[in-house]
Amino acid sequence: MPDSIATKVTKAVVPAAGLGTRFLPATKATPKEMLPVVDKPAIQYVVEEAVHAGLDDVLLITGRSKRSIEDHFDRNYELEEALIAKGDNEGLALIRDSAELATVHYVRQGEPKGLGHAVSCAAKHVGREPFAVLLGDDFIHPDDRLLQRMLEVREQRGGSVVALMEVEHDQVSSYGTAAIDPTDEDDVVRITDLVEKPAPDDAPSNWIIIGRYVCDPAVFGVLEHTPPGRGGEIQLTDALKTLAGMDPADGGGVYGVLFRGRRYDTGNKVDYLRTLVQFAVERPDVAGEFVPWLRKFLDNLQ
Ligand code: G1P
Repeated sequence: MPDSIATKVTKAVVPAAGLGTRFLPATKATPKEMLPVVDKPAIQYVVEEAVHAGLDDVLLITGRSKRSIEDHFDRNYELEEALIAKGDNEGLALIRDSAELATVHYVRQGEPKGLGHAVSCAAKHVGREPFAVLLGDDFIHPDDRLLQRMLEVREQRGGSVVALMEVEHDQVSSYGTAAIDPTDEDDVVRITDLVEKPAPDDAPSNWIIIGRYVCDPAVFGVLEHTPPGRGGEIQLTDALKTLAGMDPADGGGVYGVLFRGRRYDTGNKVDYLRTLVQFAVERPDVAGEFVPWLRKFLDNLQ
């Protein structure tokens, strides 16, 4: 048994170095992770999810224009003073919350060479511990406890764990796709193969990887030898495929948690708009005014 199995997961890694080309020109000078969903930047939801699962050491892998992300998770004394002077305690609490949420660390991914490369930039900070990876494009409803379940599976079985969701067959080519074998637990499978963004005919199943992973630290050694894959980028999916075929004694073995809960995508314009509306409808402070307006708007649209 590798010594890392005994180690509890305490760290989360959040890659935030993408170019955000699907949201240009908004992302010309602002990272896409800072786009708001109602009134919070997308990345804050993801950091909150990690903290909710007990991981309050968060490493953000940043790219260009990372300043606003750093500022967001830091104190802003000037703004605090202005809000104190106005007696705006609610605003004050909100801006302090994001600074006190987690211990946030940063590492810069020099060149955007893919998700696998971004994760390998975390090696020094993570060390020989298992760790979680959360991708900012996917939001998971916190009450659906996906990450918590993945951490349990890691604790019980070792190896690495990915979150899987079943999609329509014509959607598989946008995702990492898994070949799976059942285990003695309904919501846990063993992964036997992974293919990054396959043509539908080459997909091993309709189970796709959503952006949540718990990785054994063996992934860092594997990533060093993972050649560029789909899109000429170093893919985390390819490294996990290698791990799936490795001996558990060397940190190998990959499991999947089958997720049937609420996932919201913010990766492209239409999904982002859907997520905005869904979040607004669920927010008690906004819904009262927004929902009747939305109904009327849609009625008038026909
Ligand atoms: C990445 C991964 C892919 C995964 C997806 C989930 O792709 O490479 O395997 O299914 O995230 O959102 P991206 O969306 O960054 O192209």
